[in-house]
Amino acid sequence: MQVNIAKKAAGEKAAAYIQPGMTVGLGTGSTAYYTILRIGELVRGGMALQAVATSADSEQLAREQQIPLVPFAEVQGIDLDIDGADEADEQLRLIKGGGGALLREKIIAAAAGEMLVVIDESKLVKQLGRFPLPVEVIPFAWELTFKQLAAIGAAPVRREQEGQPFITDNGNYILDCHYRQIRDAAVVETQLNSIPGVVENGLFLHYAVKLIIGYADGTVKEIIR
Ligand code: A5P
Repeated sequence: MQVNIAKKAAGEKAAAYIQPGMTVGLGTGSTAYYTILRIGELVRGGMALQAVATSADSEQLAREQQIPLVPFAEVQGIDLDIDGADEADEQLRLIKGGGGALLREKIIAAAAGEMLVVIDESKLVKQLGRFPLPVEVIPFAWELTFKQLAAIGAAPVRREQEGQPFITDNGNYILDCHYRQIRDAAVVETQLNSIPGVVENGLFLHYAVKLIIGYADGTVKEIIR
């Protein structure tokens, strides 16, 4: 895989905030990938830490990197969650779920003491919504859920992969909602959460405390809430 310098810079910078003994949430995607690789280096270098993963893919990568994973039943607390995003604004509000992992990502983000978000510069936007908002729905009667979403102007499209419905790690579908512009994200979030069949949506409005933005020249900028 060709190295993406901006994503690598952001992903690796976030790992510098990990302290020995922490329980860390491992994000999903091509930017969090670099964080997980760096955490693997820390572990193999002797740092004691443990982790929980936000997707089957990240769990697999963590195992390859020899990062100790702790069962959820034994988690005492998650000190730091480090994850990517598909869009972020300067208020640190996010759209996530481009890789389909939004539900597990939100569960981990909500449980974590702090969430750091790693992005390359292309993800920073003035207004959320250009990236289609992923909404995870249960397959049962998804056509009805789809209609409810269409009725509130969400312009849903069922995600497909190789001509088949995309299936999340949780056995659900993703409906990508083409808002184009989300003027009031809190209202949209409330509307989506009130539709039966919707499991979760990709708006992460209150979780991130720090945005780490990587640039093509290898530098990073941080925005703190
Ligand atoms: C996974 O479902 C997503 O929420 C990712 O965190 C997000 O898509 C960012 O991924 P990249 O870093 O690959 O763009």
